[in-house]
Amino acid sequence: MRSHYCGDLRKEQIGEEITLMGWVHRRRDHGGVIFLDVRDRQGIAQVVFDPEREESFAVANSVRSEYVIEIKGLVRHRPEGTVNSDMPTGDIEVVGLELTILNKAETPPFPLDDHQKVGEDVRLRNRFIDLRRPEMQEKLRFRSKVTSEIRSYLDGNGFLDIETPILTRATPEGARDYLVPSRTHEGSFFALPQSPQLFKQLLMVSGFDRYYQVAKCFRDEDLRADRQPEFTQIDIETSFMNEVEIMDIAETMIRKLFSELMGVELGKFPQMPYSEAMKRFGSDKPDLRIPMELVDVADLLANIEFKVFAGPANDPKGRVAALNVPGGASLTRKQIDEYTKFVGIYGAKGLAYIKVNDVAKGAEGLQSPIVKFLGEEVAMQIVARLEAKDGDLIFFGADSEKIVSEAIGALRIKVGQDLNMLVCEWAPLWVVDFPMFEANSDGSLSALHHPFTAPSCTPEELESDPTTALSRAYDMVLNGTELGGGSIRIHAQDMQRSVFRILGIGDEEAEEKFGFLLNALKYGAPPHGGLAFGLDRLIMLMTGTDSIREVIAFPKTQSAACLLTNAPGEVSAAQLRELNIKLRRTP
Ligand code: AMO
Ligand code: AMP
Repeated sequence: MRSHYCGDLRKEQIGEEITLMGWVHRRRDHGGVIFLDVRDRQGIAQVVFDPEREESFAVANSVRSEYVIEIKGLVRHRPEGTVNSDMPTGDIEVVGLELTILNKAETPPFPLDDHQKVGEDVRLRNRFIDLRRPEMQEKLRFRSKVTSEIRSYLDGNGFLDIETPILTRATPEGARDYLVPSRTHEGSFFALPQSPQLFKQLLMVSGFDRYYQVAKCFRDEDLRADRQPEFTQIDIETSFMNEVEIMDIAETMIRKLFSELMGVELGKFPQMPYSEAMKRFGSDKPDLRIPMELVDVADLLANIEFKVFAGPANDPKGRVAALNVPGGASLTRKQIDEYTKFVGIYGAKGLAYIKVNDVAKGAEGLQSPIVKFLGEEVAMQIVARLEAKDGDLIFFGADSEKIVSEAIGALRIKVGQDLNMLVCEWAPLWVVDFPMFEANSDGSLSALHHPFTAPSCTPEELESDPTTALSRAYDMVLNGTELGGGSIRIHAQDMQRSVFRILGIGDEEAEEKFGFLLNALKYGAPPHGGLAFGLDRLIMLMTGTDSIREVIAFPKTQSAACLLTNAPGEVSAAQLRELNIKLRRTP
């Protein structure tokens, strides 16, 4: 057995005989002396082999990168001038006395310290090697620390860790389900849970009062940098607590994590209604590190000839918003063209702008393809409303409310990052007062959160005007990422039926899909509510990583495949037959 981890060796061990086990990180020949950098999960130590110890020297000479070795040696001070202050073990080195090769290794598919140059696909295909890199080890170690802190916080607050099924029925969280065919029930399928939502509500009906779970969730949706088909939630539910109390428990937990693991004091999180977030930032997860805001200007443009602006300005479903970019007048034509292309991703048909060169000169001092359509008076009113100064640039979006908010909201973030406008490192907030429903293009309604979220009105008020009803939902947002979300749930059967009705889920369908929940609501369901955090996203933010894949040991690619195991894979004809499944195209 080892006596020490390589990475833990310090001056205190000088003079001790120790045993190390690990991997050969690097081997260097230095004028007859061989240096091995030996690596384990804690870090790297330098071991020196002298030709005078013939046997161990010969073995040291034969090892290659990534061989697994055992070393018995003596810790000593590094000779003067060779101390390496960049390395935690840089004060000492180990004089190698005995060296045993525990296993050989072929040349790794990529050098561990040169991973940048290899594509992510190579790293993922050889993830077991990629994970040897100190950076990956550190991230997963940190992840383990975070879950351990979370568990101890929730345990300490009386939450019970209860597991819920993976083979279950569909839970509507807005994504497609992953389905698993049943062998014993021909033609029937399990769905993997999109979240433990319904089970945690049932646990409240059962009286557990405070539940949590580090829960795997599965969603077959379009993937992005912060989304995985299989991800982990810190899932929480409580009974007899209102939203203020639930948010307080959750906020305290996040504040504690940042304080204890990172020395960052986040302070009290501000709260912002959804409508304000959309108006000022064009997003329900605003990044408050960026000081720019969207400003509505439709009222100034309703009577102009320029249809591109006047159209949406007069349309109740339209929006015309402007964004003042301080110092933006120095953006080049090429940069503006790139931003125009960028907003196109969100459906914007153009990106009008005004460069404010010299406010004092009126229209003369403005440089823009649209001032001629606006006229001087309107142009100057806009400049005044946006409080634009000489050297600023104003961008415009005019279209449906959805397109403008999304496009200019995203532009705000992009420009803010490109121009280094971040005013702080951490900007948490709660977004509250969400609408209950959002309208689909065919006029039908979908739940903005999920259909078990309680509205902040009566069932009668809800049914009379569902589109204006607000919900008792809350999202925690950090630096423009939705870290978690939850709500107070419906605990009364009639309200749950009203919501299903509004969503177009008839009584029969509700009974078929959620009969077990409706049934549970009949038998003394307590008022309850909770929330879930995306653990992967939390770790991603805390470690300053920009891809969720970097903080998951074995992640899937953008196309939802595992390159390491080649999953998903084909199955044998016999297996399909057993499941009574016939593929439309035989592989
Ligand atoms: P929601 O769907 O908002 O709520 O999910 C909660 C949190 O989970 C994270 N998350 C994801 N992380 C990675 N990849 C994904 N594909 C992904 N999807 C979601 C986000 C998100 O904020 N049952 C409710 C919670 C509740 O009401 O208690 C739910 O699942 O960080
Ligand atoms: P056009 O009259 O189409 O040449 O457009 C004049 C300016 O308005 C150009 O700078 C376009 O990029 C911009 N523009 C066109 N459509 C929109 C729109 N829907 N929102 C914002 N700007 C637009």
